[in-house]
Amino acid sequence: MSEKVLHSVITENAGEETKKQFSYMEKAEGYVKDLEKELGRKPTACVVTFGCQMNARDSEKLIGILTKIGYEQTESEDADFVIYNTCTVRDNADQRVFGRLGYVSGIKKKKPWMKIALCGCMMQEQGAIEKIQKSYRHVDLIFGTHNIFKFAELICTMFESDRMIIDIWKDTDQIVEDLPIVRKYPFKSGINIMFGCNNFCTYCIVPYVRGRERSRNPKDIIREIEYLAADGVKEIMLLGQNVNSYGRGLPKEDKMSFAELLNEVCKVDGIERVRFMTSHPKDLSDDLIKVIAENEKVARHIHLPLQSGSDEILNKMNRRYTKESYLALVDKIKAQIPDVSLTTDIIVGFPGETDSDVDETIDVVRKAEFDNAFTFIYSKRTGTPAASMEQVPESVSKPNFDRLLKVVQETAKKRASRFTGQTHRVLVEEVNEQDPSLVTGRMSNNTLVHFPADKSLIGEFVDVKLDECHGFYYMGTMIK
Ligand code: SAH
Ligand code: SF4
Ligand code: F3S
Repeated sequence: MSEKVLHSVITENAGEETKKQFSYMEKAEGYVKDLEKELGRKPTACVVTFGCQMNARDSEKLIGILTKIGYEQTESEDADFVIYNTCTVRDNADQRVFGRLGYVSGIKKKKPWMKIALCGCMMQEQGAIEKIQKSYRHVDLIFGTHNIFKFAELICTMFESDRMIIDIWKDTDQIVEDLPIVRKYPFKSGINIMFGCNNFCTYCIVPYVRGRERSRNPKDIIREIEYLAADGVKEIMLLGQNVNSYGRGLPKEDKMSFAELLNEVCKVDGIERVRFMTSHPKDLSDDLIKVIAENEKVARHIHLPLQSGSDEILNKMNRRYTKESYLALVDKIKAQIPDVSLTTDIIVGFPGETDSDVDETIDVVRKAEFDNAFTFIYSKRTGTPAASMEQVPESVSKPNFDRLLKVVQETAKKRASRFTGQTHRVLVEEVNEQDPSLVTGRMSNNTLVHFPADKSLIGEFVDVKLDECHGFYYMGTMIK
């Protein structure tokens, strides 16, 4: 998408930190203007995002500040300022960042004024910082997940110094509101409702790199959504590592459960579709199922990470549910929201996992009939409890992974075609990448539909008849 919307108004209730950061933005703008004079053109900035929706939203905040201080956004890493927003959930995410850093050092050698910054989850790990200090000396700025709101201030420090600037916070309880944001899509947006995670699944690094769970005040969330709706946003996605624990720790007068928040969000005029990510199965409440069932605006899609179908492995993972309780939850959801699509995440090769544990997982995949499942090979993360458990050799995990993937694909394919012949409401998102006479839209249950239509419909809801299912997507015809 090319259209960009700068959401940058300093409101009356902006806090002290927000005001301080706006003054750093003014200062940084001066530095960018100096660079512009030197280069004889507007300096460019490129933000490369790895990882999940949280990082995608954080990148919109980075681009907001970069735009505000005068950078032109580009997709090319041959830019005057390149920022890598990193992920560290699995080792291959780390390796991709090091690969990019090697590549971009070649560009910087030819452009000495070029600046390189690293931020995001991987930067919260001491080991990664040490490696960068040792082997990637051309990096100018490193910051973490907790102080991203200080980006403008850090840019000023970067321009004022020749050294590598490193600013990492161990944790924070601060939530800084009202900073500029540039959305990737004018018509849809992610919204953070909480930060961090307290669940400590034993394989997972996220609680260590994103810190303790903190919920945003519901008033701030609603205010942001009202602003977005007024700005043309029709679909929103409420973001949290476990949205079901939203509200813990909020002051008494603002206390709200996720079900209540979802209900409030649906009342905002102009918002036509509401999604959320991610729901932990251990505490998905009956109230939440009820709110979804009764509210047409809530997307017919629940991402419900299973991770494993074996009770023993689930216990070692600290997931706090069993195969039986997971399947009972799936039945309850399907009974009350018949047209819902369920998707999931599964890890294969967790320490101690045997072939028969994977049989249990496959059994759940067959019974739950997921519309899609993201399958991962377990990746050992330093500092997590599972890292010191006995690891499974690849000779065991790889065949199990392949076995699981086959069943996932078979069941998903069968499941996905169940809407063939029906007409569904679709939000048109973009021109089809392969065929420009088609547009691509998304159904409420998150399935993609390609159909002939004009690109002027991007950002609009239209009714589309689902003619043919091709695995994970449909080909359709727009109903006038
Ligand atoms: N908070 C979300 C997940 C965030 S990470 C939740 O609980 O669902 C996204 C997915 O990455 C997880 O669901 C899990 O399947 C996978 N994952 C996390 N840590 C992993 C690891 N060490 N190895 C392999 N996959 C992992
Ligand atoms: Fe990781 Fe578990 Fe938290 Fe999800 S709920 S982010 S898997 S610790
Ligand atoms: Fe990765 Fe951080 Fe998200 S580790 S998955 S970017 S929370």
